[in-house]
Amino acid sequence: MRDPVYLDHAATTPLDPRVRQAMAPFWQETFGNPSSLHRYGQEAEAAVESARATIARLLGCQPHEVIFTSGATEANNAALKGVFLELMRREKKHLVVSGVEHPSVLEPARQLALLFDAELTILPVDRHGLVDPEDVRKALRDDTTLVSVMWANNEVGTIQPVRQIARICREAGVLFHTDAVQAAPHMPLALNRVPAHLVSLSGHKMYGPKGIGALVVRTGTPFEPLLRGGGQEYGLRAGTLNVPGIVGLARALELAHEEREARWDHLVTLRDHLIRRVLERIPDAELTGHPSLRLPNHASFVFPQVNAQVLLPLLDLEGFACSSGSACKVGAAEPSPVLLAMGYPPDLARGALRVTLGKDNTLEQVEAFVEALVLAVAKARKVSA
Ligand SMILES: Cc1ncc(COP(=O)(O)O)c(C=O)c1O
Repeated sequence: MRDPVYLDHAATTPLDPRVRQAMAPFWQETFGNPSSLHRYGQEAEAAVESARATIARLLGCQPHEVIFTSGATEANNAALKGVFLELMRREKKHLVVSGVEHPSVLEPARQLALLFDAELTILPVDRHGLVDPEDVRKALRDDTTLVSVMWANNEVGTIQPVRQIARICREAGVLFHTDAVQAAPHMPLALNRVPAHLVSLSGHKMYGPKGIGALVVRTGTPFEPLLRGGGQEYGLRAGTLNVPGIVGLARALELAHEEREARWDHLVTLRDHLIRRVLERIPDAELTGHPSLRLPNHASFVFPQVNAQVLLPLLDLEGFACSSGSACKVGAAEPSPVLLAMGYPPDLARGALRVTLGKDNTLEQVEAFVEALVLAVAKARKVSA
């Protein structure tokens, strides 16, 4: 029996041993609370500040603009709610988000609409999942609080024109947030090119630890802290810092940066091969997401007359771990809201498959996967017939 093959890197990634090594001292020897004034605390604080400086350098922002959070769900919630709560005092209550955002953006936006009578504009996307920057321009109003459009989509891998969108928002004096969780492992997040006011990151999507993330809050961004307490993180996010997590997040981002080109080339080779072979072997399969403006590791499809709830366990039996879309939707028989927003009919959206490659996958694994997929799709069709 072959070893199982993990093809679900958009859901999470294994911890890179080099990241684990960087984190190791902070579980035990250097266990201090970074807020403490004694040497134990100061050692931990030095590690946190060095991590903060690394992340700031890689993104092109100031260290004090990097706020550590428990992950990107918190960062996204904080971005929307933090800005909204501050600006609602100035009679601004209009939020603009794209229809393909992660639930950790869409749900807080809906919650604010419900609780505070915020007005919510959901931007349409085209068949490839792309937001048209002109639609953003048209949606902006005098009372617009914030625009949130993700850098790259987790379900279909489409890379959004965030640079143009950020510029349109800047010109109009409107705040712009981008969820960069899926882009960060693969692309430089140069904030001088993409002048977003707020950016969310997560450790575990880039071979870092789970339960750690960051929200970049550029200087001057109106922001009401969600967590109040001991005043950590410049008063923007209270709570004792997750020191090993923070060290791991910075090291993971640093490695992604150092190895970017090699990882990119390897992933694109595997991804293009996978897409080509799947479309050849399963002629009615359709690639979802943009054909070229897509993440290097991301291949996603729909198969007519297939239910992903049947297909995924069949693939798992053959030793291949992939998903139907967002990992947060596991167990849900509902078709993906992302594919629905892209105009796919519910029946077709139920047959969605997401294959997200990792730096350690091989061409042999991709070949074996395609063979298993051909058989699994045929079997799943028999079950649904
Ligand atoms: C695009 C996107 N945003 C946000 C999140 C949430 O990140 P976290 O798991 O760190 O809360 C995820 C992960 O599922 C994601 O893919």
